[in-house]
Amino acid sequence: MKQYLFQELLHAAHEVYSSTDALKQFAPWPSDLLYVERPVQPVPAIRQIKMWSDEHPLHTATQQVADIGDWKQTYREDEVGFGFLQDYGYLELYGPNGHFQTDQGRAYIGYWGRGLYYPWHRHEAEEIYAVVSGSGYFESEGAEAALLKTGDTRMHHSNQPHALTMTDGPILTFVLWRGAGMAGLPLMGAR
Ligand SMILES: [Fe+2]
Repeated sequence: MKQYLFQELLHAAHEVYSSTDALKQFAPWPSDLLYVERPVQPVPAIRQIKMWSDEHPLHTATQQVADIGDWKQTYREDEVGFGFLQDYGYLELYGPNGHFQTDQGRAYIGYWGRGLYYPWHRHEAEEIYAVVSGSGYFESEGAEAALLKTGDTRMHHSNQPHALTMTDGPILTFVLWRGAGMAGLPLMGAR
């Protein structure tokens, strides 16, 4: 049952991928995805995720795995504050440590709650965000800031500082990483 729900999640993510040119141009879909059992690791935000009603198939598929996901939080309380850690979390859908194992790429599903401010940060890997549901105000150094909604995408270059503010409500995103540093983690406060 657990594997079935993650297959559904992968399928819904692939639908988003195949219908979004910017994602297809960013990176190929891995050819060797293998489901692996990951430990169940909850975050406080899964309560918000499950209560947030939206029809998007990737949104509902994420809700289906919310209680069985290996949720991660890259940041510590002394970096982002207690509140941030209550309202945020992400899953590695596929990648070196993902629910589907591959070394060909990395994909995440990330959630940030209403009113949250995700401060300036950077990472070596290149990144593209696709908004699944909700909206967020995306800022990145050297580019015009923009409020992005369902279907919109935004790319961040290697080590390009960026920040995200949830102005009108929460946001659920599908995120791909590529290139050098793909196995690394985001670093805070590096503007
Ligand atoms: Fe990022």
